[in-house]
Amino acid sequence: MSSNDITSVLKEDRSFPPPSAFQQRALIGSMEEYDRLWTYAAEQPERFWAEQATTCLNWFKRWDRVLDWQLPHAKWFTGGKLNVSYNCLDRHLLTWRRNKAAIIWEGEPGDRRVLTYNDLHHEVCRAANMLKKQGIGSGDRVTIYMPLVPELAISMLACARIGAVHNVVFGGFSSEAIADRNRDSQARLIITADGGWRRGAIVPLKANVDAAMAKSPSVERVIVLKRTGWEVPMQAGRDLWWHDEMATVSANCQAEELDSEHPLFLLYTSGSTGKPKGILHTTAGYLLHATLTSQVVLDLKDDDTYWCTADVGWITGHSYVVYGPLANGATTVMYEGAPNFPDWGRLWEIIERNKVSVFYTAPTAIRACAREGSKWPKQRDLTSLRLLGSVGEPINPEAWMWYRDTIGGGRCPIIDTWWQTETGGMMITPLPGAMATVPGSATRPFFGVVPDIIDASGNSVPRGKGGFLVIRQPWPGMLRTIWGDDERYKTQYWSQAPGVYFTGDGARQDAAGNYWILGRIDDVINVAGHRLSTMEVESALVSHPSVAEAAVVGAPHELKGEGLHAFVLLEGSHRPSDSLMRDLMDHVVRQIGALARPESVRFAQALPKTRSGKIMRRLLRDIAAGRASVGDTTSLEDFSVLATLRANEDV
Ligand code: PRX
Repeated sequence: MSSNDITSVLKEDRSFPPPSAFQQRALIGSMEEYDRLWTYAAEQPERFWAEQATTCLNWFKRWDRVLDWQLPHAKWFTGGKLNVSYNCLDRHLLTWRRNKAAIIWEGEPGDRRVLTYNDLHHEVCRAANMLKKQGIGSGDRVTIYMPLVPELAISMLACARIGAVHNVVFGGFSSEAIADRNRDSQARLIITADGGWRRGAIVPLKANVDAAMAKSPSVERVIVLKRTGWEVPMQAGRDLWWHDEMATVSANCQAEELDSEHPLFLLYTSGSTGKPKGILHTTAGYLLHATLTSQVVLDLKDDDTYWCTADVGWITGHSYVVYGPLANGATTVMYEGAPNFPDWGRLWEIIERNKVSVFYTAPTAIRACAREGSKWPKQRDLTSLRLLGSVGEPINPEAWMWYRDTIGGGRCPIIDTWWQTETGGMMITPLPGAMATVPGSATRPFFGVVPDIIDASGNSVPRGKGGFLVIRQPWPGMLRTIWGDDERYKTQYWSQAPGVYFTGDGARQDAAGNYWILGRIDDVINVAGHRLSTMEVESALVSHPSVAEAAVVGAPHELKGEGLHAFVLLEGSHRPSDSLMRDLMDHVVRQIGALARPESVRFAQALPKTRSGKIMRRLLRDIAAGRASVGDTTSLEDFSVLATLRANEDV
């Protein structure tokens, strides 16, 4: 933990009470009700969660014990048996929802599909049988590397149905990233597609998988969905077409009765050091958290059409495109492509056409749309909207106000939801019918979430002062461990201060009790709502033959929140040039993916280091942001380095 204090400079006095029509229909319709339930859940968490588990989920066998907490390992609902896919599908087939739209999907080229709960159940059962036919069973890991098509959700639910553990890899990641995740998780099978559409071009998913295969010895089979019709080579004995295999299996597949703590999925996320971490989520606790927050925070009702724009390759897509909405029998919209294809009106056109009522997106998308001006949303009828959400990074008050006025027509509450891959579901967020919202604040903790803000010595800080955000009690959706590295789980999340979960974010609580998230405090950069480790980008740069050493920092970026800036030292014979700079940027894209492309690459003769050899990233951050360096530089080894770096503008 750094010993620097976190200073918060934002001042905001605007506040918007919940509209009364909204309040009347909301599950939690007043601040008193919120306070009562929050206190009850904090004081008697096991009673609170047992009640919720009874009403929110269907069980094959009720649990024996609500919580087995042996710090830092939690087991929830031990002895219970259930199935996530049963809860998302089968139970709705027993009701009028059987022919309700589960997924309304739109491809980037404009093709459309609607799958009812009945349709989805049918497809998931067949996909589960397809996996079984390939010898995949309970506990086996399956990598999913697909475009945002219904088959992505179908594949996840099929895994959940038979107890296989899915590991979705975002379609923007490169073959190296796929291979790393395959190796770490020891995946036996990959589900991919011949490609996906993005900005009018085909993303070569199958080609990326092929390139990863040489470094993925555990993978035995590749199942390929035909999405684009683009010709891809198929390796006999290894590669199988989705449609061929689906045609050979039946649509009857019993959902396995799985333990509450059965692993549901792995999702890799960046940490400040070393390789990406395989965050493990399990069955009952995760599903309960995703289901309850979808009801209470997203306020999903049977007549809603709900759209979360997140890619399913990230946690938001897992919890709030697939599991939370489907467990609630909601109608969820999925869109395959880019928000600005063919123009900046695409999102608003989809909302208008489908009469979307609840819309959940990221600040980076809001800022990008705001920059294009209000003319695009103004061309569309957005009056179907009743609730707007934001997730992934701090939302600046200007963007918040634009979202409220231009998209929400001033009538929709905005929920700014703070949470993480590790937390499984929303943690600090307004309940839209209960509390006033404030631009830029995530407001209050969800039920059962007990946050605190502490200083470097682990003491709680007074209201108004910034500090490190921690969580004091276990909650059902929390990660269980880092796959294959429980020691890292303990050091990363539970060793910074005794007995509390360390989020890695800074925060402050204002006089009214609202929480303000101040961003990451470690060497993780939040680019367009996605966490990237500076370490990984540095490793990618150093893997280029011309680079001897690299340091990567983040600096504010108007649209992406933060952008990546690289400082590199070249190997002896190499000389700085424009073409080398471009080559290095492309190299990072090849190694990690397009989202990691640096904004700038500066060539340096030396990097500012402490006497113990640690790169002083704070100083590099100042240079990248074009600021004068303030603060302590006494531990800097060689002062001349700084002057040289400043003088050395991007080549
Ligand atoms: O820094 C916080 C930021 O995103 C981080 C979590 O990233 P990830 O695990 O990729 O999950 C993103 C989607 C949940 C957090 O540690 N973050 C997320 N939501 C917010 C946020 N920062 C401020 N406000 C938010 N609403």
